[in-house]
Amino acid sequence: MGQRRLNIGFVALTAAIGGLLLGFDATVISGVVPFIREYFALDGAGGDLKLGWAVSSLGWGALAGNALAGVLSDRLGRKKVLLSAAALFVLSALLASLATTLTAFVAARIVGGLAVGAAILIAPVYIAEIAPAQRRGGLVSLNQLMIVIGISASFFSNYFLLEVGENNWRWMLGVQVFPALLYLLLLSLIPESPRWLVIKGRDEQALDVLTRVGGAAQAQESLQQIRQSLAAKNVSHGWRALFDRRIRLVMLIALGLAFFQQITGINAIFYYLPTIFAQAGGGVADAFRQAVIVGLVNVVMTVVAIWLIDRLGRKPLLVIGVTGMAVSLLTIAWAFNVEPNQAVAGAAPLTTNPQLVLIAIIGFVASFAISLGPVMWVLLSEIFPNEYRGVAISVAGFWNALVSASVTFVFPWELSTLGPAGTFLVYGLFASAALLFVLVFVRETKGRTLEELEGELLSRPKSTPA
Ligand code: BGC
Repeated sequence: MGQRRLNIGFVALTAAIGGLLLGFDATVISGVVPFIREYFALDGAGGDLKLGWAVSSLGWGALAGNALAGVLSDRLGRKKVLLSAAALFVLSALLASLATTLTAFVAARIVGGLAVGAAILIAPVYIAEIAPAQRRGGLVSLNQLMIVIGISASFFSNYFLLEVGENNWRWMLGVQVFPALLYLLLLSLIPESPRWLVIKGRDEQALDVLTRVGGAAQAQESLQQIRQSLAAKNVSHGWRALFDRRIRLVMLIALGLAFFQQITGINAIFYYLPTIFAQAGGGVADAFRQAVIVGLVNVVMTVVAIWLIDRLGRKPLLVIGVTGMAVSLLTIAWAFNVEPNQAVAGAAPLTTNPQLVLIAIIGFVASFAISLGPVMWVLLSEIFPNEYRGVAISVAGFWNALVSASVTFVFPWELSTLGPAGTFLVYGLFASAALLFVLVFVRETKGRTLEELEGELLSRPKSTPA
């Protein structure tokens, strides 16, 4: 086999297109909602639940994708799972854009969800497994960044496609075929994960990949390290680990953060953004334009968070950000609180101040993007000791996706039943509880070794050192 040198930046970027696609696929629905509601005649209370089902179907599919991807990627390899995800992204975009019944639409979105669930898990694993140690952190955050860029791209694309006619929502969903095909093509050019190859006893192939990534000398060293870490992994505790008393506190922190990240409504806001802005009393085009601004704020603040996380620390970012989230959500609730006399007089849904709704939503997204958004994932990767990490992260990730799917499912019903003010009040109260949770339970992990953290975070087995 030829020893063409591989550009690791290109390899990581290729894998990270998975992040871009999943971000795009998740939020593209926000532009589609106003139109499928009409097309599939989703009226009344039953219609609200059906709309919630149509929007959250991607999330339910992602749960399944999540559960399957780990096993399949161990059996078939990381690259094959990513290739399958790319193919499913293409298929889902085609089927959803052509759907003429709600059932076909939901089925197509579930297929997309399988791809999302697989990509969200396996793209970062693949990058971490192929990147040289000294560049790993940066290259893995690239994937995070691509997710928020994908979210932003979908708001842009929806805005540009809004005026293409009555099939606009089909185009919004369908354009994803192009980046997904590109993903498929580029993936075929990158090698299998060397770590997986070693797991399968294919050391020669692994060495070949490692040589192409870092040169012959480094390849030998990396191969050694992989073998060592695999030997250490044999002491992995499996599912029983979750009930281990030693990790009770870290498990509580992980599950708590995963819960609060979703119950405070980020994805309800992202998946229904133009609908929310329309409730605030603006026109459709305005609502789509405002979504673009929100997407850009999310990208910029994620970059700020990546920059701040090792300087300021995780806990200060969480405290500042979650406070901002609570204040913003309560402000949205207040802004939506229609004066009784206005409500009677006005036929259209009036708010005390539509500008304030926009500003507060921007404030909420900015606060989320510098805190719970990225920091939760960083903490998850840090607080568990090696031998518990894999299984604990899968469980916390699954729990996070479950809460997300549930929140986006009930949102239309909640909006009709409690009204926007009541809905955002609930989110605001959860954000206040999240702040309390962070203050009481979260410990700083910045610049500390895992061994130091273990002393503080884990309950000691028997003897208590001084
Ligand atoms: C969350 C996603 C969310 C995204 C928004 C992530 O940290 O886990 O559910 O859609 O942030 O940027």
